[in-house]
Amino acid sequence: MKRKTYHYTTIDSTNIKAKQLAPTEEEGTVIIAEEQRMGKGRLGRSWLSKNGKGIYMSIILKPKADIMKVPSITSIGAASVYLALREMGVESKIKWPNDILVGNKKICGILTEISGDTNKVNYVIMGIGVNVNLEEYEIPEELKGMVTSLKIYLGRTIDKGNLSELILDNFDRLYAPFKDGGNISHVLHICKENSSLLGKDIKVISGNEIRVGKALDINESGELVVEFGDCLEAINSGEVSIRL
Ligand code: BTN
Repeated sequence: MKRKTYHYTTIDSTNIKAKQLAPTEEEGTVIIAEEQRMGKGRLGRSWLSKNGKGIYMSIILKPKADIMKVPSITSIGAASVYLALREMGVESKIKWPNDILVGNKKICGILTEISGDTNKVNYVIMGIGVNVNLEEYEIPEELKGMVTSLKIYLGRTIDKGNLSELILDNFDRLYAPFKDGGNISHVLHICKENSSLLGKDIKVISGNEIRVGKALDINESGELVVEFGDCLEAINSGEVSIRL
């Protein structure tokens, strides 16, 4: 599909640029950079964005959906990356809400940022970062054992242009029903079937609070259903992180 694309050699963050452009750009516009000087992760973390070593891209979206449903858009990004990797012959797992794991290590993260209020969604920025050709020695000490790249996993250099096209093509197809207010049960099915969490004991971390429960399901709103003792709770992606 033809899409308007802004390509930068270096930038602070493609999500920041996408937010600046969103008010005037059409839905589906993509911002891609070779390097980010201030790559942003969830929960105020940073995202390792070395020159030419990964896919760093953000998509501007303007869905006609209820703002309550918008956080579930992250699962559309996650399923798109999952399917693109599978088309390359790489089996991965989706770690709700925004990580893709290969061999139990993180290879991709998604940062969804929403602008709007209860009356109207102005725009959504979906930022996708994939570690493509990062070398083992480029992974910082504190992330070793938790993070990998396709090159480390497959032992060969990967064409990241080809992979980003596969991700965007899958995204366009999976997002189409959602954009006009339709449901995303087909996407949630992919996320559930290939989840790294369902059926497992997990820690739900929110600020200083850590609760231990069992991940049971992902509901129709894209929330993680967790069993704590004899209570079931639906957790939305907001400010939580999950550990096994
Ligand atoms: C996470 O796992 O915490 C989310 C990481 C998201 C990283 C991507 S890279 C492209 C886009 N621009 C950013 O600054 N962040 C996202």
